[in-house]
Amino acid sequence: MKDDLLKIKEAGLAGVTAANDLRTLDDVRVEFLGKKGSLSQISRGMGSLSAEERPIMGQMVNDVKDTLEAAVLAKKSELSQKAMLEALATETIDVTLPGIAPKIGNLHPMTIVTEEICQIFIGMGYEIAQGPDIETDYHNFEALNIPASHPARDEQDTFYVEGGHVLRTQTSPVQIRKMETSEPPIAIVAPGKVFRSDEVDATHSPVFHQIEGLVVDKGIHMGHLKGALTQFAQKVFGDDVRTRFRPHHFPFTEPSAEMDVSCFGCGGHPEKMPTCRLCKAEGWIELLGCGMVHPKVLERCGIDPNVYSGFAFGMGLERIAMQRYNIDDMRLLFDNDMRFLRQF
Ligand code: DAH
Repeated sequence: MKDDLLKIKEAGLAGVTAANDLRTLDDVRVEFLGKKGSLSQISRGMGSLSAEERPIMGQMVNDVKDTLEAAVLAKKSELSQKAMLEALATETIDVTLPGIAPKIGNLHPMTIVTEEICQIFIGMGYEIAQGPDIETDYHNFEALNIPASHPARDEQDTFYVEGGHVLRTQTSPVQIRKMETSEPPIAIVAPGKVFRSDEVDATHSPVFHQIEGLVVDKGIHMGHLKGALTQFAQKVFGDDVRTRFRPHHFPFTEPSAEMDVSCFGCGGHPEKMPTCRLCKAEGWIELLGCGMVHPKVLERCGIDPNVYSGFAFGMGLERIAMQRYNIDDMRLLFDNDMRFLRQF
């Protein structure tokens, strides 16, 4: 048995020395040191040895095992080193090849403007609210004091869908949904898509975006409306911007107004720049509709108009994006031409 062991040791060491690559070396390892290898087999024969011989042989088997393992390990590191040096010598890397730049996207100009406006109102304590694109006739019109005879309901303007629903023509129904489901104080802005049966041209699209605002609490008055919206305008267009409120009519507010901002093309001084295209030399640019929430609207939503009052506003977002980025054709915002969109 001792002789067998010495033979195994010699054969094993010879195998390791002869191995020229990592695969052959591993074959040698399995042959001698593996589970079914020669060393395991010889260990199995130890049962027939006497009690004195057994520990001596055991020790010898372990010594041979240690020797072979050490030899395999040393050879393995030698061969790995050799393989690496070979690879370094034969493989080349052309460091002058152009790299593969990761493709980085960017936000759509409408997203940028919408998020910026939302952030301004969030900073003033408003929450974001949302409503469905497909609305009930009640939320889009009736609850907002727009009776069946109102011209805004004219089939020319509104997309009707099955079941008496409409594609919302404005974000104002989100006001109604908010008031129906919560108690004042309420302060929300609701950005989203709206739909009108318009022909596409440089300033019209059947789908566009609005943002709606609503504040309801005890003692809210026109001064709050003017303050909030003027602050908003200055945040968007700069501290020098002035606002003016012109009387107007909306069915769901009383009194109602339109807010203009001083033109950022001529600084509100068309006399100094009679060719200003932005305001057509008016000095003012119309920005949004607003007003005090009509008592009937509050009442329909279960809010007592004798206790609470509120103001609301709504504006088109494409207009603001176009002014902000000097875009003269609204279709550019919907065409999804990457050459255009990558500029933002
Ligand atoms: N919904 C109106 C529109 O689409 C905009 C508007 C005007 C909203 C006045 C309001 C408001 O909340 O008070 O033209």
